Amino acid sequence: MFFQPKETSNYILNPDNIPSHIAIIMDGNGRWAKKRALPRKAGHKAGAEALERIITDCRELGVKHLTVYAFSTENWKRSQEEVDAIMDLLRQYLKNYFKRFLKDDVRMDVIGDITRLDQDIQEQILEIEELSREKHGLAVHIALNYGGRDELRRAVKKLAEDVEQGAVKSEEITEDTIASYLDTAEIPDPELVIRTSGEERISNFLLWQIAYSEFYFTDTLWPDFNKNSLTEAIYYYQNRERRFGGR
Ligand code: IPE
Ligand code: IPE
Ligand code: MG
Repeated sequence: MFFQPKETSNYILNPDNIPSHIAIIMDGNGRWAKKRALPRKAGHKAGAEALERIITDCRELGVKHLTVYAFSTENWKRSQEEVDAIMDLLRQYLKNYFKRFLKDDVRMDVIGDITRLDQDIQEQILEIEELSREKHGLAVHIALNYGGRDELRRAVKKLAEDVEQGAVKSEEITEDTIASYLDTAEIPDPELVIRTSGEERISNFLLWQIAYSEFYFTDTLWPDFNKNSLTEAIYYYQNRERRFGGR
């Protein structure tokens, strides 16, 4: 008789073809809460818990980089109450890192413009990034006050300053030069982008980096996304043919 693990998956993955970088647009927290007649804040809390579980699952599967869209440059348009609730959850989340993930060799850093975040959050982020430098396991990149267009704007501004000062010659600018000015300079491009909640758009996430990524959309709301859902997404990825413009 075969032993059946409790959480069975219908998908058998090829361990030699696990995407090294997965990026996720964690969408659907609000709808998850609404379905349960709960405040949106409760959806964000459940979303933060789902992220903790997915980080563990990614480690177990051997993923090297996980980038998650947590707060976009457009999300400031939400009610002050919701923005405050998300920021409070973020504080708790960052605190939790020290308890849960540090011992597991998980690295964590932030992409996006953190200067608009509250001072105490900025300090927490810098402390975690400093500690993460000594770690070598899964790297979790949290996109906070992140927008692909804003990232490009900041990169172009910095590059223009360096050209003005003579540190870079304009005729020597290559694609690699541009990539090196982005928040993701040290991070390889994602092979797989997942968006939950049934929306099929990019919403200003990683515009430059997804040039050749595979996309996986699912109706599952982010708080319900679990290891099975992740396995299904990777299975889908493994059965795609990536051509990169060749034939
Ligand atoms: C994603 O869930 C989390 C953030 C954007 C912060 P939403 O809050 O967008 O949830 P829906 O799309 O309203 O269901
Ligand atoms: C994208 O989701 C941003 C995050 C998941 C953080 P949104 O819910 O903000 O995007 P739209 O409004 O559906 O495009
Ligand atoms: Mg949404």
